[in-house]
Amino acid sequence: MPHTGPILEGRGETDYERYVRVPELLELQKPAELLANPEERLFQITHQSAELWLHHIDYEVDRAVAHIDRDELHLAADLMHRCRMILDLLREQIIILETMAPADYHVLRTSSLGRGSGQESPGFALLLNVGKRLWPHFTDALARKSVTVLEIEREPRVHYELFRLLQAFMDYDEAFLKWRYTHMRLAFRIIGDRVMSLKNVPAAQLDAGTREPLFPELWAAISELTGEFKPSF
Ligand code: HEM
Repeated sequence: MPHTGPILEGRGETDYERYVRVPELLELQKPAELLANPEERLFQITHQSAELWLHHIDYEVDRAVAHIDRDELHLAADLMHRCRMILDLLREQIIILETMAPADYHVLRTSSLGRGSGQESPGFALLLNVGKRLWPHFTDALARKSVTVLEIEREPRVHYELFRLLQAFMDYDEAFLKWRYTHMRLAFRIIGDRVMSLKNVPAAQLDAGTREPLFPELWAAISELTGEFKPSF
């Protein structure tokens, strides 16, 4: 009989479990008997999986930076497109929490979360800097090609590769703003729009974040372009 058992090191009966590290992953959730209520499991898993994806975006952004520095702009655009898809997934995923009753959330909020807040998410903090991280590398690439953002916007097909990357940045920016908006609506739905958060911040302050683009220079160039097209009537 050929040996068909696992060949990887680690815990678990199969190589699948050992590679994915399923036993370790499942140990990261509070055991059922310690949950504040049955709804807490969904809350914890939603945040845990979000942290994994947020860190993955950070990893892909580093790769995109390296591609821009090597003038492999199409590869950078592909990675930013991937990151945008992950943000869209996170936006879809957060909506699941709208199925939780506000009263159930208050039970775990007051007994399990300590002073914790999503604001302290290390993955989210990394994402707030995505624009600042990419921008200097992008402007260096523009300088190497002696072209400005406005010139790219004026002639997108002439500067096709740069335009594609610029569009990928815009798609990413838009997806990030949409995540922030969807999260704000979720927060309002569960705790209302008038209360103070566990950090003593008014929940309504989330609104400001839905209007902070990561690439303000790109949005400014679009407005500038619009200004160049005067109606003839
Ligand atoms: C019951 C669901 C949720 C409620 C009621 C809620 C509520 C809030 C509130 C009130 C804030 C304002 C800041 C503060 O707390 O001090 C906040 C911020 C934040 N939360 Fe949540 N949240 C929920 C779910 C989530 C989930 C699933 C994530 C996923 C990672 C998340 C991530 C964040 C982040 C990143 C911030 C900072 C946002 C920003 O500055 O724009 N939250 N949340």
